[in-house]
Amino acid sequence: MSRQEELVEAGKRLLLNNYRQAPVVMSRGEGCALWDVSGRRYLDMTAGVAVCVVGHGDVGLADAISAQARTLVHASNLYYLETQLRLADALSRRAFKGRAFFCNSGTEANEAALKIARRYQAVARDRPDRVELVAFDNSFHGRTMGALSVTGQPKYRAGFGPMVEAVRFVPFGDAAAVREAVTDKTCAVIVEPIQAEGGIILPPPGFLQELRRVCTETGTVLIFDEVQTGVGRTGTFYAFENEGVVPDVVTLAKGLGGGVPIGAMLANEEIGRGFSPGSHASTFGGNPLATSAALYIQQAIDVNGLLERCRDVGSHLGSALLRLAERRKPRTRGARGRGLLQGLVLDGDAAPVVARAAERGLLVSVAGGNVVRVAPPLIVTKAQIDEAVALLDAALADG
Ligand SMILES: Cc1ncc(COP(=O)(O)O)c(C=O)c1O
Repeated sequence: MSRQEELVEAGKRLLLNNYRQAPVVMSRGEGCALWDVSGRRYLDMTAGVAVCVVGHGDVGLADAISAQARTLVHASNLYYLETQLRLADALSRRAFKGRAFFCNSGTEANEAALKIARRYQAVARDRPDRVELVAFDNSFHGRTMGALSVTGQPKYRAGFGPMVEAVRFVPFGDAAAVREAVTDKTCAVIVEPIQAEGGIILPPPGFLQELRRVCTETGTVLIFDEVQTGVGRTGTFYAFENEGVVPDVVTLAKGLGGGVPIGAMLANEEIGRGFSPGSHASTFGGNPLATSAALYIQQAIDVNGLLERCRDVGSHLGSALLRLAERRKPRTRGARGRGLLQGLVLDGDAAPVVARAAERGLLVSVAGGNVVRVAPPLIVTKAQIDEAVALLDAALADG
């Protein structure tokens, strides 16, 4: 048995059986490349599921983390922490103005968003009857009970009921259905500006603006889940910048720490009234280690012009995937996405194609069942994109 096979066997024995994992053990990374324990190199177009925005093995990130680790790793939110304040300040200079709560993951950020919305209505506005949540079919917001309750895909919820009550699901993109679903009992609407896990689905033009209008008219909290689309993934820091709307609450995670776990829930000044001392907390949330990593990422985005780069290389990727989709019809149904969050739509299950791509040394992932998601580090080059698309083409030809 090879070392890799031994480790895969150990994984099957030691870990809970909740992931569908490739029989590969990753050990090292550099830029857009990953190596497994057998020394095999892969071109990484997953970025650790839209996380590693500056790629793997970034020396600046390593330096930021190690310098902070030597100074202070953790002290808790019993005290103010300078790196946390600097990160909140850096985020407030982006397109959303508000206050920050830091946590450790996307699902926790959404949990915090749902909680502040409920408490804002119940306490700050004295409307404890406004508890209903409106969410969308095919959405994905995370795996904790609150976030799962607003996730509009039955496969994630199966066997975990009962969910948090009073959630109404409406079709993504159907503004009339939203108008009907939002009543004076609605607390909040939660939406991904682009449905990512659901299959890289962009909303129809004007849909998010209409959501904004409905929420403003009815005093409903509008929450944008930018856990996957945020931190530059679509070519602007937030995907909503492309839509001319600003939510009341926005959530971030994934790319925020470049791979170091950190999430954030940002709320505007008005909704921020929902929280008071003791109403929400996270032991690790915003600790010095995570926030120094995230501060480095904020800097790296600006210093390296990663947003412009994402738009440029992303449009190169989008065009290449469209050409590939055209060439491989009827096996393919098209391509869609924005920036470096792109999908190649297949005529069936994308998992076998993803597996064959890995055999050829290309890492991509499945979204929405029939979509091959291409979401590389934001530092990816056009030459690497071309190599990835050629490998994907070959993987399609195999099957
Ligand atoms: C839009 C969105 N929200 C929330 C989550 C959950 O994030 P996490 O896995 O960090 O809890 C994800 C993860 O894929 C996501 O894509």
